[in-house]
Amino acid sequence: MITALANNELEIASLAYSTLSIAVENAGMDDMRVISDNFQDGYEGGAKVCADYQNHPPSVTETGYTSSQDQASGGNLPLDQMTATVTQSDTSGNTVYMLTDTQRADMMSETTNLIVDTFNNGGTVGDLFSADHSFLNQELAQFYGISTNGLSASSFSKVSYPMGGPRDRGILAHGSILNGYSRPDISSPTQRGHLVRSRILCQDVPPPPPNLNTKLSDPTTATPTTRAQYEQHVHPSDPTSPCPACHTLMDPIGFGFEAYDGFGRHRTTQNGTAIDPSNVIKQAGTTGMDVSNADLTGMGQYLATSDDVKACSARYWAYFAYGDASWDEDGCTYDSIRTAAKAGNYSMKSVLTAIVHAPHFTTRVQDK
Ligand code: HEC
Repeated sequence: MITALANNELEIASLAYSTLSIAVENAGMDDMRVISDNFQDGYEGGAKVCADYQNHPPSVTETGYTSSQDQASGGNLPLDQMTATVTQSDTSGNTVYMLTDTQRADMMSETTNLIVDTFNNGGTVGDLFSADHSFLNQELAQFYGISTNGLSASSFSKVSYPMGGPRDRGILAHGSILNGYSRPDISSPTQRGHLVRSRILCQDVPPPPPNLNTKLSDPTTATPTTRAQYEQHVHPSDPTSPCPACHTLMDPIGFGFEAYDGFGRHRTTQNGTAIDPSNVIKQAGTTGMDVSNADLTGMGQYLATSDDVKACSARYWAYFAYGDASWDEDGCTYDSIRTAAKAGNYSMKSVLTAIVHAPHFTTRVQDK
């Protein structure tokens, strides 16, 4: 089995990565911490955790997709969302900027190249978030504002990203992610923050209840940046507003992406106001502490070392490999996967090896 994996590394790497998109649904706000606490207990687990799972299975059910858009994209993390058209219009509604098909294809190639290279070199999922390099061709480097020296017009070469360089480090600064999680006309701190919260940290944020007016307020002179516009959900003037309960879990993460517009182009100002890419992951870790980062590189560095991220990816990959949502009743299988993957330092290869060695994968139990 493992030999077979080695022969199909490229395919396995992209399949495995695509599973990151499956999120936990149907959880209430109070359940959110419970889910992640159970999950983190399981990660450090052992026999006690197995018993706990059997006696008190988590009260949520996992479903394959969080939305019809997810389903249409096959549950892929960001890449298939690249097919969504992002355009920028002037005040008369004329399109003034649109990505070309080649640019989209280049962005997909960049991300696939990084994943496959990381997988083949024994890297972890965490390494994707802190990568000090990427894979570019001339056109993508130009779009990113990076020197095209030595780059080919067609094939992709490894390019180092020095600290403080023109692009942030890691997969979160790839055009594929930045475009996939944007509104048609502007960036989206909510969607980008939701991505990190739900798909990378395995913590759900339920959709807004019906009857809430969730319309994004139009920009005004008081809100020259997209960040300022979205901060209204997080810091509303009305203290009884229901918005912050959920939006503080998403938007302050998403602000970390604000050095990139909806297309993934780097920017330092918006309407003459400096971009502030500082960000906070509220209740990030096992103890629920807030993690503050100066920029997107800083967020990537935190995610790269987070045990939650490792455990979350192992969970989703297993889900994908087994093709069922048996998390509730199968805590022991997942616990053993995490133990085996941990022994291999959570390299992408060791996670997959652990999944295919688990009895859940190698044996079939007759229906009762
Ligand atoms: C129960 C949780 C919850 C509450 C309460 C809530 N929201 Fe949201 N909101 C969400 C989620 C989840 C999304 C979807 C994020 C995504 O698309 O990835 C969202 C999306 C949005 C969006 C779209 C943002 C974008 O960039 O696509 C806006 C605008 C918004 N909410 C405004 C509000 C406002 C205003 C309130 C208060 C009146 C509010 N929401 C209350 C959970 C909530």
